[in-house]
Formats: sequence, structure tokens, C-alpha cells
Amino acid sequence: MTPSSKEAIAERLAEARRFTLELLQPLDDEQLNRVYSPILSPLAWDLGHIANFEELWLVQTVGEREPLHGELGRFYDAIENPRKTRGELPILRDTELRTYLADVRERTLEVLAEVDIGPAAENPLLREGFVYEMLLAHEQQHNETMLQLLQMVDGYEPVDPELGVLRAPEPGSETISIAGGEYEIGAPARGFAYDNERPLHSIELAPFQIDRTPVSNATYTQFVEETGAEPPLYWERDGGGGWVLTNMGDRDPINPAHPVLHVSWHEADALARWAGKRLPSEFEWEAASPQLEGTGQAWEWTSSDFLAYPGFEAFPYPEYSQVFFGDAHKVLRGGSWATRRAVMRPSFRNWDLPERRQIFSGIRLAADA
Ligand SMILES: [Fe+2]
Repeated sequence: MTPSSKEAIAERLAEARRFTLELLQPLDDEQLNRVYSPILSPLAWDLGHIANFEELWLVQTVGEREPLHGELGRFYDAIENPRKTRGELPILRDTELRTYLADVRERTLEVLAEVDIGPAAENPLLREGFVYEMLLAHEQQHNETMLQLLQMVDGYEPVDPELGVLRAPEPGSETISIAGGEYEIGAPARGFAYDNERPLHSIELAPFQIDRTPVSNATYTQFVEETGAEPPLYWERDGGGGWVLTNMGDRDPINPAHPVLHVSWHEADALARWAGKRLPSEFEWEAASPQLEGTGQAWEWTSSDFLAYPGFEAFPYPEYSQVFFGDAHKVLRGGSWATRRAVMRPSFRNWDLPERRQIFSGIRLAADA
């Protein structure tokens, strides 16, 4: 990574905030505060959490300043406050919330002017601007979480009509053969990446095959009709023999060419078996990624549990990755239409519970060679 100048960091922070606020601009305060689902935070919590995370890292930790609202931060701690409780918390709302966002940003920029973010910076959080990259990625990742909730808001219309347009991949369902051998997995030591992507290490893979494009709605429809499986989240019968999508209160016919979205890991795994194939491991996915077309529309469930790489070291805090390692979470790779492009990279590991469907999750199929 070429270290960003302070001006570039300030501009990127401003751009991330413009995007967040534009996403929420069509909503009123009642909609921001409303609990739409027990597995998603009210948008006001996400927004306050974005500002509070910024305050915690860029103002309190790096700038050694006191927080603006005393103990408020504990209500924005994602581990301490499960999603189903967040609507009831005494969090900031309405004008107070907007003022907090602006006040934190002002202090962030004050601190940025003071600190050394060069490659020789003593504090590893500041070295090559790590903590600023982390904050940018955090806000951008929360944009996707917000878009998960926005799927449930009837009549939501994005300010930018390009946002939220799912594009069909190039037609064609051919399979690519990947040779067996040693593959480098993970992120190199330099440049921004999360702790769970490191260290870079090699993995021995047997030869395998992987589909060039993700599973389409057409294939998923066939699977549902033949097996009686549950349709994906947001699919409803159209009254005839077909299906409509009901996101944001719409009733649009499904596009058979689009990748299927909003399926659980269990459903992805069942579809793979029905198709006589299997899900790729996350290492197979990463090894094949330079040759995959049609990524970046749907997150792709893999067969892998979310585990530490050999030699893993938690940085900058164990609650980012370490507390989630184990067999409870499955890894997703790639990225969805709702993922900001700056967040996507081949080594990025997303994870979730195998029953979850509110995420923008799809399927890519693999098979032994
Ligand atoms: Fe967060």
C-alpha cells in the first residue's frame, strides 16, 4: 500500500460519510429508530455506532482525548449489545445523533493533523495509517448492513438510482478446471487487511472444478420446484406459477439470469448436493478467484468454518475476529452488489451463522476434478 497523505485520508473519510448519509437521506427519524427485525439493528444504532467507533479509535485511542458523552460508548459496543436489544437502548437519536456525528468528525480531523502516520510511526495503529483504513472499512461495511435492513423498508428509494441495481453476470455456466498444487492464501504483511486474513501461507489443494458464475435464480427456482425447498428470503408466489421479489415492498418478477441471493448456508449446501456438486472451500475460492467472472454480486457461501490461519495474531483487538473463530460460523467470500468496492479483495473473509439469510448471500458450485 502506498501510504495515503493526510489530505487523502480526510477526503476518503468525507466520501464514506457522504455515502452513509445519502443512503439514509430518504428516511425520517421514525424509520431510523424503528426495529424492523430482531436480527438487524435499528439504523439509528448503526449510525451512532459508526460515529462511536470513530470516536473510540481516532479520538480517544489515537488522540488521547475524553469521549464527548461519557459512558455512552457501552451502548454501541456490538459484542455487549446483541442486535435484538438495540432498539431499547438509551442511544442518541434524531438531532442529537447528527450533532454527535459532526462533533466526532471535527475532533477526528484535529487529531489527524497531529499524528505521525508514516511507515516508521511508533504506534502500530498509526503506521501507514492502519487505524484510518480500519475506520473507513468499518463505515463501508456498515453500509452493507444498513442495506440489509433497507430491504425491509417499504417504499425505500435510493437517492442514487444506480445504487441497488443488481447486474446479471455474463451468460454461460461453464466450469473452470483448477490444477492441484500449492496456493498462497491470505494477505501479505504490508498493506491494509484484517488480522483474520494473515499470515499469508500456502495451502496444498487437490485439482478441482468451479463454476465460472454463481447459481442463478433460474437454477434455484428449479431446485425449489423439484425438492419443495424453501424459497429464498423475499421471494413470494406471484399467484400464477412464478415468483416475485418483495424487497422494499416491491413485487417485481424475479430475473432468472440474476444470481440467487438471500439463501442460508444450509440451503446453499442442499442445492449443491441436488446439483451433484459441492460448495468450494474458502481456499479453493481464493485460488480460483483470478479466473472467476460474475463476482461482486452475491457473497458466496463456502464449505469452510471460520478458523484462524496458522500463526494468527489478533490485531488490533480480539473482538474483531478471534472471538468468532470456531465451527459456529461459515465463511463467505467475494462480495455483493451492496458491498462497497473498496472493501472487496480476494483475501477478505466474511462470516456468518449458517442459518442467516438477511445477508446478500448466494452460491457458487465446485466439484472434485
Ligand atoms: Fe461495527
